This record gives sequence, C-alpha cells and structure tokens, in this order.
Amino acid sequence: MKIITPIMDTNVKCTSIKNIITILVPLLVLSFCPMHAQEQPNNIKNEDKMQWFKDAKLGIFIHWGLYAVSGIDESWSFFNGYISHEDYLKQTSGFSAKNYDPASWARLIKESGAKYSVITSKHHDGFALWNSKYGHFNAVKSSAAKKDVLSPFVKELRKNNLKVGIYYSLPDWSYGDYTHFLRDSMRYKISGSPKRWNTFLNYYQGQLKELSNTYNPDLYWFDGDWEHSAAEWEAPKVRQMLLDKNPNTILNSRLKGHGDYATPEQGMPITRPKDKYWELCMTMNNSWGFQKNDHDYKTIDQIIGIFTDVIGNGGNLLLDIGPKADGSIPAEQVSILKDLGQWTSKHKEAIYATISGIPKEHFYGPTTLSKDKKTLYLFVKGNPNGEVVVRGLKNKINRIWVVGNGTKLSHKVVGKVYWSHYPGITYVGLPDHVLDEHMTVLALLLDGEVDLYREDGAVIESN
Ligand code: GLC
Repeated sequence: MKIITPIMDTNVKCTSIKNIITILVPLLVLSFCPMHAQEQPNNIKNEDKMQWFKDAKLGIFIHWGLYAVSGIDESWSFFNGYISHEDYLKQTSGFSAKNYDPASWARLIKESGAKYSVITSKHHDGFALWNSKYGHFNAVKSSAAKKDVLSPFVKELRKNNLKVGIYYSLPDWSYGDYTHFLRDSMRYKISGSPKRWNTFLNYYQGQLKELSNTYNPDLYWFDGDWEHSAAEWEAPKVRQMLLDKNPNTILNSRLKGHGDYATPEQGMPITRPKDKYWELCMTMNNSWGFQKNDHDYKTIDQIIGIFTDVIGNGGNLLLDIGPKADGSIPAEQVSILKDLGQWTSKHKEAIYATISGIPKEHFYGPTTLSKDKKTLYLFVKGNPNGEVVVRGLKNKINRIWVVGNGTKLSHKVVGKVYWSHYPGITYVGLPDHVLDEHMTVLALLLDGEVDLYREDGAVIESN
C-alpha cells in the first residue's frame, strides 16, 4: 500500500539546501511530521479517519447485478467468452428487483454484527444500480426494474447506523470508449486514441463525482485497476477529488496503490499481514454474485473460524452475499448471516474495538486484546477436553470468565522455574457445560498490559 506524499516528491527535489535551511525548514517540519496528516485535506490524520474501520471488524459485501438473472459469473462470463456480450445484455429484461426490500437487507446486515456494507454500484460490465446521468446502462433506464435500487439501500444503511461503502469498477467493458472489451479483443490502445480515453476519463470520473455528491460514501471500494497504470487512471487526482468532498472517506487499495487499506481476496492470509489496515473479502460459497447452481457454502463454524483468524491478525472480514435478480437474498445466505449474528452478539466484547492478539506460540488459536492490552481474549475451537493452555504469560491473571456467559474459571501455572524469568505454562479449566456450540471465547483479565516471555530457555547456573 502506497501513501501519497506529494510534497516529498516535488518541492524537496527542486529546492536548494540553503533555501531549505533558511526559508523552508518550518514549512517542511509542518509538512513532514504528521506525514499522513499531509495527505488529507483539513489535517485529518489517517489514524483518526481509519478508526471506525479498524474497530468495525465485519462488513457485508453485496454483489448485485445483471449476472444474477442467469446465475453466471459477474461480468467475467462475457469477457472470458462463455457467453456473448449481446446475450449477456439480454439479462436486463430479467433484472426485476420485484421483491427487493432494502429495509430488510439493512436489518439483516445489522443483525449479522457487521458495522458496514459495500455494494456493487457498478461492476466491470458497466451496469449501474443508480440513475446515473452518464450513459443509459443502468437499473432505471435499461432494466425491468425501472428504478434506482442503490439510493433506498444507502438510506436504510444510514438509518441503521451502518457505514456506507460503494464498490465501483474502474473498467467498464460495455462502454464504447473504454479500451478493453473481451479478453481477446481490445477496442483501442490509449496511445493510438488519446481522445477516446479522455472521453472515458470524463465519463468515469463524472460517475464518481455523482456518487460522491449523491451518497457521500464512508468508503470507496475500487476494483479492476490492473488494466491501466495509476497515471492512466489519473489515480492521485481521483483520490484528491473524493477527499476534497469528504476528507474522512476511506479508499481501498485498488486504485493502483492510492488507497488506505489492503484487500487480500478469498485466501485467508496465513502469516500476519504487515499492512496496518486490511480487509479480507470472501465469498460464502464460490461465487460473488447469485449462482443458482452453487450450493457449496462454507459452514458457519468455518466462517467463524476464518473471521476470528482475521480479527486476531488485526484485519476486517468483508463477507459477500449475492442477492437474486428479484432482490431476495438466498435462504442459505440469510441463515449464515443470522447464525453469525447470534455468535457475534454473544461475543461482542472480544470482537469490536479490540486489537490483534498475541503470537501463536503462546496460544494455538486466534486471540484479540482490549485496546489497553489488559484483557486477553482466547478463541477456543471445539472441545479442548477440559483444559486450555497459554504459554509464557508473564502477567498475573486476576480473573478469567467465559465471554457471553459469565462463568468464572480457575487456572493453574505449571513449570515455572524460580531461577529465571520463565513464567511457566497456564492451564485454564474449561468445563463442557460452558462451551459455545460454534466457538467459545475466554477473557483473561491481566494485572497490567500483556507481557510475554520471548527469550530462549536458560540453563541453571547455581541451584
Ligand atoms: C475480483 C473480480 C470481481 C470481484 C472482486 C471482488 O476483482 O474481478 O469480479 O467483484 O474480485 O473482490
């Protein structure tokens, strides 16, 4: 993830050292010190604007578009030649949204425990869910729905106090002046037709301006940046344009690096990502959009397992649903969101506004910490047969309880050696009757900030 530092790139290089010392030092101190503050208008610090995102932990992704009609891959089905573009477009007559109930969507998202949602305002196929004045290819002007299906949803999200994220595909494979069309046929190269490219730039940036003026999103979720360079997309200008409108808005990284957080996709990171802010986007089955044939859903235990791995490593999970063309949400997805909601609401103190936990060597499972680092949360999968083990914890434990249940638990430290700092191994007794059906969470209240033994073993020199 790149942070934009315009002052560093331009002013510094072309200014003499003498000038820097005499005239520019105070200016540079101001501009360099809070480097992140520099990239935001009105001096909004990156950490401040990212705080809600960092605390949110769970978001719901929504892929809703024409592709739900036939249940085929979103946009890619025609780009890759599995169906002709012409036939792909015929799906407009089936996009009815006749059972679309944005209020129940938002309620369900709220119930799942998510704090934000990101909806595909326009995927790579170019079909817009709102009534864009740029072009005609949208839900109002070219679909059976004949209505704006984005605005009412945004309104319901706000009503439910959920943050609003707008997914926007940079490529628009249906737009006549966009470079790419099908995998094996491009319309033109920018170098050959800069004028056409400019037409496209005005179009896409116009749409973004429209989205920003109409919805003032809390977050923009770009996609498809791989088709052009940052300079070709005019990425820094677009970033600035969106921040000028709302300095607090967050951009994902898929604007050729000119964003605020990383977006690993589908694959749960195995090692802890180095990015300070990141979000794993993941499908519940194997498809982003609704596909009638795809019943290959992850189980609720697997989803909770992945979710806790994500938050234990300091990230967010953006879990995807794909509503049908009539606007109803498939039953399997509703039930996953409801089950997830039961679990997240029971364990909220261990989830929201926590920070990443301790290294795996100390506890074989995900962990989180309260912001003051004095409460350690252990996520215990399955039935550990009466005992949970924590290694090398130097703190004294003042109290242990089962989150969402309140039962107090006892513990014993084994193997502490009196002649070194090695603190021993902590065994927490965990009776079967307090186990959660999906994943049990324990809270350990420590005598101070968590303190871990990370040294090599020592040999006794005097006994
Ligand atoms: C990929 C795909 C796109 C999907 C997105 C979600 O970029 O191109 O179809 O919407 O991932 O992260």
